[in-house]
Amino acid sequence: MIEIEKATTEKSTTEEPIDIKPKKPSKIQTLRGFQDLLPDFQDYYTMIKKAVRHRGRQSGFKRITTPIMEETAVFSRSLGESSDVVSKEMFTMTSRSGKLMTLKPEATAGIVRAYIEHGMHTLPQPVQLYSIEPQFRYDRPQKGRFRQFHQVDFEVLGMKDPSIDAQMIHMAYKILEDLQISDRVDIQINSLGSAENREEYMEALRDFFFDKKQHLSEDSQARLEINPLRILDSKDEDDQILVSMAPKLKDFLSPESKAFYETVKDYLRELNIPFYENEGLVRGLDYYCDTVFEIWDKSQGAQNAIGGGGRYDGLAELLGGVPTPGVGFAMGVERIVGHMKDSGIKPASKDNVQFFVAQLGEEGKKKALKITTNLRDLGFHALGGMGKSSMKAQLKMADKSGARWAIILGEIEVRENKAILRDMKLGKQEIIPLENIEQTVIERLGEKPDIYTLGD
Ligand code: HAM
Repeated sequence: MIEIEKATTEKSTTEEPIDIKPKKPSKIQTLRGFQDLLPDFQDYYTMIKKAVRHRGRQSGFKRITTPIMEETAVFSRSLGESSDVVSKEMFTMTSRSGKLMTLKPEATAGIVRAYIEHGMHTLPQPVQLYSIEPQFRYDRPQKGRFRQFHQVDFEVLGMKDPSIDAQMIHMAYKILEDLQISDRVDIQINSLGSAENREEYMEALRDFFFDKKQHLSEDSQARLEINPLRILDSKDEDDQILVSMAPKLKDFLSPESKAFYETVKDYLRELNIPFYENEGLVRGLDYYCDTVFEIWDKSQGAQNAIGGGGRYDGLAELLGGVPTPGVGFAMGVERIVGHMKDSGIKPASKDNVQFFVAQLGEEGKKKALKITTNLRDLGFHALGGMGKSSMKAQLKMADKSGARWAIILGEIEVRENKAILRDMKLGKQEIIPLENIEQTVIERLGEKPDIYTLGD
């Protein structure tokens, strides 16, 4: 657990003479692992959100937003004390009353807490929820790994059926297909069996590694004590050799879990979703049982996975609720954007400027203000050179804005009740009357208005 540093008051303790020259304040930058989401990123993010909402709506999901911060127990009980997230990566702080609070490192635990808190088990089941939220993990920042990142997350609670697991994987794949990057990923799946199956298997692993402990990596030696399942996840070559000789998880699955897993795979084939079975896939969070899956980058494997998920039938009880089956997945927005950029996908952006209204003189400015706002009301994107810049400077601004047309209101034009309409692409211009100018320029543009209605 990472304790966030307590704020300290800056106070000088020395008696040195005070320097009366005012110092230039130092530049403040984002914290390590945190980043501004600039307009270029937002175009990709909007496209991802659209795909997520669209796919979610098609399958009856409703959106939920849980608080950014929860009581620490929500995460420590859910993800497991031994998980990397809980043991090393949580942003935890103490409230004034001494309560431990944590910035959410993932979405599932908070959503299950909300399901219990709002008595959602009394609603028709299953309850299907999705969220698009920032998450926080005190990870070592590197490419595709941040301390604040964003997840799109889908959860289905209150019903257990292999067809739901298959639909979750199908949904993740379809979203990536919509975003044109499904050909860059591999879906890896496995079954962890029930909690009891897993417990028996962990015991068998402890026995197996008992006299081989000294040959394991330092990390895996620690994992042997807390959660031997995580040794299967180790990237260390020597660990991997030992793992290849260790008992296999599939030999510990109950007939029910085996049948469940077989049916999930059967449904995936039926839905034409390509997948790889991966016996070593155990996931890094403790709440999983039966189906687990990850969406890997084809070229990097487990490193920087795009998404992951699985079934977590025991989680609601761990958080004080009634037994409630659950299954879901999350995908990292930053990693999806990375893939979209690498494959040259340009998201559609509606941020283009259609008209730039340039003006001179008080009368020109008033007219320009009116024309600019009228064009906006009619559903067009219009900017105005509203400062006191010269006409030359305003036309430069028009050019930089990417406007298709400039409407020029010089002092002479305004006196004569006219304006110059300049085609910024072709460099041609014409004189048009100020009367009904909006209609004239809209006709020249020949595009549909971008109208926003609350019913949409
Ligand atoms: P997770 O595998 O820990 O699963 O995270 C899901 C995805 O979030 C990862 O595959 C990755 O794309 C992204 N991600 C995780 N950490 C970072 C980071 N530091 N920087 C950038 N992206 C990151 C979960 O969180 C589960 N709650 C998924 C789930 C939902 N299971 C059931 N329902």
